[in-house]
Amino acid sequence: MKNMIHYCSQTSTFSLHNCKVSYIMEVIEETYLIHRYWGKRLSSYHFSNRPILKKRTFAAAPDNEKLEVSPEFLPFELPVAHQGDFRNPAVQIEHKNSERITRFHYQRYEIINKAIDLDDLPHARDTEELAQTLIIYLFDPIAQIELALSYTIFENSPVIVRSTKVNNQSEKSIKLTKLFSASVDTSYDDQLVTTFYGTHQKEYQLNRSAIQHGLFKIGSSRGASGPQYPPYLALSKEATENKGDVHAMTLIYSGNHEVLLERDQYNHLRLQIGLNSETFSWQLNPGDSFQSPQALLSHSDQGFNGCSQSFHHFFADHLIPPIWKNQVRPLLINSWEMTYYDVNETLIKQLIDAADELGFETVVLDDGWYSQRNSSKTSLGDWVIDHEKFPKGIQPLVAYAKKKNIGFGLWFEPEMVSPETTLIQQHPEWVMRSSNYQPLLGRSQYVLDLTNREVQRFIIDTVSQAIDTLDVSYIKWDMNRHMTDPFSQLHSFEASEYSHRYILGLYRIMNELTTTYPNVLFENCSSGGGRLDPGMLYYFPQTWISDNTDGKDRQQIQYGASYLFPISAMTGHVSDVPNHQTNRTISFETRAALASSTNMGYEMNITDLSPKKKEIIRDHLQEYKEERKLITQGNFYRLLSPFSSNYCAWMFTDKGMEQAIVYVFRNQYEVYELSLLIKIPFLKEDCLYKDSVTEQVYSGSELANCGLALENSKDDFIVHKIKLVQIEKEL
Ligand code: GLA
Repeated sequence: MKNMIHYCSQTSTFSLHNCKVSYIMEVIEETYLIHRYWGKRLSSYHFSNRPILKKRTFAAAPDNEKLEVSPEFLPFELPVAHQGDFRNPAVQIEHKNSERITRFHYQRYEIINKAIDLDDLPHARDTEELAQTLIIYLFDPIAQIELALSYTIFENSPVIVRSTKVNNQSEKSIKLTKLFSASVDTSYDDQLVTTFYGTHQKEYQLNRSAIQHGLFKIGSSRGASGPQYPPYLALSKEATENKGDVHAMTLIYSGNHEVLLERDQYNHLRLQIGLNSETFSWQLNPGDSFQSPQALLSHSDQGFNGCSQSFHHFFADHLIPPIWKNQVRPLLINSWEMTYYDVNETLIKQLIDAADELGFETVVLDDGWYSQRNSSKTSLGDWVIDHEKFPKGIQPLVAYAKKKNIGFGLWFEPEMVSPETTLIQQHPEWVMRSSNYQPLLGRSQYVLDLTNREVQRFIIDTVSQAIDTLDVSYIKWDMNRHMTDPFSQLHSFEASEYSHRYILGLYRIMNELTTTYPNVLFENCSSGGGRLDPGMLYYFPQTWISDNTDGKDRQQIQYGASYLFPISAMTGHVSDVPNHQTNRTISFETRAALASSTNMGYEMNITDLSPKKKEIIRDHLQEYKEERKLITQGNFYRLLSPFSSNYCAWMFTDKGMEQAIVYVFRNQYEVYELSLLIKIPFLKEDCLYKDSVTEQVYSGSELANCGLALENSKDDFIVHKIKLVQIEKEL
């Protein structure tokens, strides 16, 4: 499909179509850009849903002869404040005299035959896949300000990429006090809203509810996207995991965001996503522009699984660094839960030996390797190897591992500084803080001022030096507190610009490091999934999604995160029992199955295992190696939700649906359940599949409609693994 974007001058209509979705807008009264449709592909559109407008008392109208055309109830593409629309605006501008009134009119459009690159922000990457971008310009002729709304559509994806740019073409400075990346007006139709909430060790918890009149808002003002309310919102009516319409949005951004849903008095719905306007404003001098982050709008008529798969494939094709797309990630052993800060040369050498014996591919030296870092209270910022723990340095260990064909990884928390470090003594002005108040500590540490170019350089140089001198192949990039004193001691811009400037600084650093070292695997971490968002994924292809490795809690965390993130973006480790976070003891099989459902690793002492345990782990690693391509690069389907049942189940298949791995977790044992029955939809209904353990053969339609009966063995927290292989094409 060559032309996916059309403008019809007779009807003043813009339409974006590919084989999956349609998105339609209309210019009315030669002025307003109106939203008409976003959803399943239409064969053509003839305004069937155009609302019949009616005059209402109190509704302001620009033309006194046409009182029914009031912005109060028009479905806008980008609602502007003080234009007669009293719902939540997507753009608000303050003039020099503090007036906030603007009047934007449709002006012109252009179509570009590619996706657009944003200089300072992560964005949907242009690839071989055919892409087109529509840019629609709105203009305020009095204020001389232009709004550029861009829409990118790719040939094979149901995801539409939206963003907004403000160009100050006037001779005066203005202040941007609100700018959403996308706003969509639609009608209320008894839909439900789905978002996620969470906390440290309990990320991505499902939150689904009816939509009330008024505003529903989630977001972050923590300086990071946060585990509390990640940037995701979906609308669905009768959708299940497998069926029904789902409209979902997310944001390619890692800082303060806002996601909003408004149901107004006329039962209109407004969905918005973008920068958090409570912590944001931006000074635009004459000639300046401001570009919003990109929002991703995904529609599926195949339920939440369909919607997730659209995001999964889009992230793999257009977001993560392309070099990592088809590369399986190393199977690693991480030192953290083995000894915490108590690492040393002997131990890491033993870890390398054990890793070699068992079949691990990378050893990760986590926190504790530098400047007497013996607790969370010290040393961040003084990135000098602790010579008491590592008398010969770390390089000989890296070389030792390399000889055994094992990669070496290092933990860093580059954005932070501990009190009483040399760094803070030398550069007290590098700390993020206000002039008047003592900054708050979080995990006993301060945040560095990433808006300061010198700080950016320090971080880039520190991490580069470690990579160059130690020859490490993996960096775990941690960020373990939120921002309480967002202010730069350089005083070179307004305080309300701080949070966004911090993120721009972070992106600049990550961009330089990942382009200089494309083969180093950077893993994102923020006490687990504290900054797990599509923005980070653009630079770092995988995230340690939770510090919680418990065999029960992880079911929900991984299930929830998969609404947005592909398996290739998540890491999971097998840890010891009783679990360090919950004190629960859950079987090895269940813990291994959960970690095996991500980029897998281990995080426990493997240096003093019994021969039996060694054999079990060796077998597990070998099995995972054989399966990991399918697991991390195929399709992923959620089957049973741990948020609403005693079960959790999911399935991995290759793209051709010839092989499948299904994991079924059953938590509490119930005596009345004779056997467990799991329905496995999505396979090819007319094909036969063989269970590679029992050697039984089933048809795809049978697995989908009758289900598969599994033994309900006594015990809590059991897991069943089912491996299916297609044996013949047609019945
Ligand atoms: C965070 C991470 C952990 C570990 C510690 C080290 O909590 O999430 O995995 O790296 O920091 O201090």
